[in-house]
Amino acid sequence: MLSDTSPVTRVLEGPVAVLTIDFPPVNAASQVVRAALMAHVEAADADPAIGAIVLACAGRTFTAGADIREFGKPPTSPILFEVCDALEACSKPIVVAIHGTALGGGMELALGAHVRIAASDAQIGFPEVRLGLVPGAGGTQRTPRLAGVLAAMELVASGKPISAKKAHELGLIDGIVEPDQLLLVAIGRARRLVGTIPRRSGMLAIPAFDNVAAQAALAAIQQQARGQVSLLEAAQLVLRAPELSLADGIALERETFLRLMVSDQGRALRHVFFAERAVAKVAGLEHVLPLHVAQVGVVGAGLMGAGIAVAVASAGYNTIIVEQSLDAMQRGRARVMALLERNLKSGRISQAAFDADVARCSFSAELVTLSACDLVIEAVFDDLAVKKDLFAKLDKIVRPDAILATNTSYLDPNAIAEGISNPARVVGMHFFSPANIMRLLEIVRSQHTSPQVLATALAVGHRLRKISVVAGVCQGFIGNRIYAVYRKQCEFLLEEGALPHDIDAAMEAFGLAMGPFKAFDMTGLEIAWALRKRLAPTRDPAERYVRIADRLCEMGRLGQKSLAGWYKYENGKAVVDPIVSEIVSDEARKSGRPQHHFSAGDIQLRLISAMINEGFRILEEDVASRASDIDLVFLHGYGWPAYLGGPMFQGELLGWARVLAEVRAMEHRDGPGWTPAASLVQRAEHIDTSAL
Ligand code: 3HC
Repeated sequence: MLSDTSPVTRVLEGPVAVLTIDFPPVNAASQVVRAALMAHVEAADADPAIGAIVLACAGRTFTAGADIREFGKPPTSPILFEVCDALEACSKPIVVAIHGTALGGGMELALGAHVRIAASDAQIGFPEVRLGLVPGAGGTQRTPRLAGVLAAMELVASGKPISAKKAHELGLIDGIVEPDQLLLVAIGRARRLVGTIPRRSGMLAIPAFDNVAAQAALAAIQQQARGQVSLLEAAQLVLRAPELSLADGIALERETFLRLMVSDQGRALRHVFFAERAVAKVAGLEHVLPLHVAQVGVVGAGLMGAGIAVAVASAGYNTIIVEQSLDAMQRGRARVMALLERNLKSGRISQAAFDADVARCSFSAELVTLSACDLVIEAVFDDLAVKKDLFAKLDKIVRPDAILATNTSYLDPNAIAEGISNPARVVGMHFFSPANIMRLLEIVRSQHTSPQVLATALAVGHRLRKISVVAGVCQGFIGNRIYAVYRKQCEFLLEEGALPHDIDAAMEAFGLAMGPFKAFDMTGLEIAWALRKRLAPTRDPAERYVRIADRLCEMGRLGQKSLAGWYKYENGKAVVDPIVSEIVSDEARKSGRPQHHFSAGDIQLRLISAMINEGFRILEEDVASRASDIDLVFLHGYGWPAYLGGPMFQGELLGWARVLAEVRAMEHRDGPGWTPAASLVQRAEHIDTSAL
């Protein structure tokens, strides 16, 4: 019996039963939806008064796929692939009306049905690989039957949605209509199909394909996957379809789906999916409306400022870029134009979008031109006096309610805000370089920042398509503070017998695109050097300190740009330099520390444990509000692949007790600064059972 509160409703249009899934927010195919849909289809099939069925969804979208919240729990009947099979087996034609996005299991339901009509602005796709999975309800088996093997491989392995138009060209959609005509057309089509035998996609023969091209596509997918297994597995399932019956293909697909679901990568990517949605929810801002922002100023058009300006202009804001002299302004304009042109040449934007972005940018050498701005982001030299002076001037130029944002990476926004008339309007907006590409934005809330200013910074970050993570004030905020700890342990390892390339190899094997020492060289060693010198007078003399990086900097080895740093650079390639190995051995000898052989696993455990410990401290200090926010910082700002889930998630995989033991060894060996965080101890000892 179907209840009144069923998520699937039925309306009769003559001989056509119109079934509508209404299950906000995204009509996910949860158990209640699957059960109701199955019951409706069985009832309609058995009802002689019904000749055809239309399946549509209410609300903003067609079904967004399986309910991800059910993943990792025991499967509940009916399973989605059974519902797809039941749709296909129905003796009455089923027409699907697609609006919004038909994703994953949503598209699989549509493929199980017999005719697919889509609104012209709809999109379809198989994002399962992004969750570390493969399509699990026939997607890898029915898609090649309609679109061919090569197109199906590309679709399931890329995870990217395609337009209704493209899907129509591929044969996955049978008709495209104006959005407001969708239901009408679908019902009309269903009426005409009454009494006909349904065309079942699962029964179609797979069109012949070029196996050499398929193998080449497989090799390209493997390369592009960079260690993420789901992409290759999805493509391989498509490639197996021609040699298997539909039932055997679906059984193999299901087995792969369930295996990947419980894999570390599957768990990690699911964690990331929910983390990316949780990060936007900031306690205390639930009912706070952001201010209206139309005009944005960017002060400073160096590498960072130019990147910020491009990100801002590309998001549709009128952008005024100010430099301190006409010469500097011209150089800034050239930088901004070069970035926009790169976007155009790479195909990232169309000529029309490029023209619009250019038209939105204006340049000036006078701060007063910022007077009408709703938000000004400074990206000038990271020096407290320089920034304070700038904010004092801006304070007199912009409206009293205009927001002043600092892009500082290390300075205290509270200190920057000191002396201005309304410190509540000051917020940190810490971009990561290149600012027009990197998705991370740390939004730093000072002690004065008002909720409305914070909400506005988040809204701007959202419009810039950034992952905006709210951070509290501390040295380095979330990312750079944890990165500093990671860096220290990397250097400690050098004093104990490891070489930079051993550590890089271990972390690359772990999954990072670039080991730490190559990354230090890429960003340059001078900023960390300057910071160490700045902190030297207040450093605890008992703190463990490694001199190797200082020695390299003193030799002028500042990283890639000076063609020497932790490596030497020949034709752009990092090459192990015996001089560095000698300095490392010399400092190791001087330190008198016992020398060890470290396996890749030892190195990984030690570095990740140090990061986790600092992460727990950050949570205790309320600098970050969730462990998953910390993970997003590393995924979107420091090149961690999503399938690792981030450092805090790795604690789940490594085991909290192992992490704690590792940190206790640090405390014993490395002294002050390496005490285990109380909440890590609690987690490891199972006192705190709250989930990450
Ligand atoms: N299952 C459960 N919850 C889902 C969901 C899903 N498939 N898709 C979205 N949601 C939830 C989100 O977690 C969020 O919840 P919250 O408000 O509590 O945080 C809410 O729906 C709204 O989601 P968004 O904020 O992402 O909404 P947008 O409007 O920005 O985007 C969307 C809509 C494009 C549909 C986007 O949500 C999306 O991409 N969803 C995931 C789609 C997906 O990956 N589908 C495949 C699932 S796996 C599968 O189908 C397996 C099958 O092959 C067997």
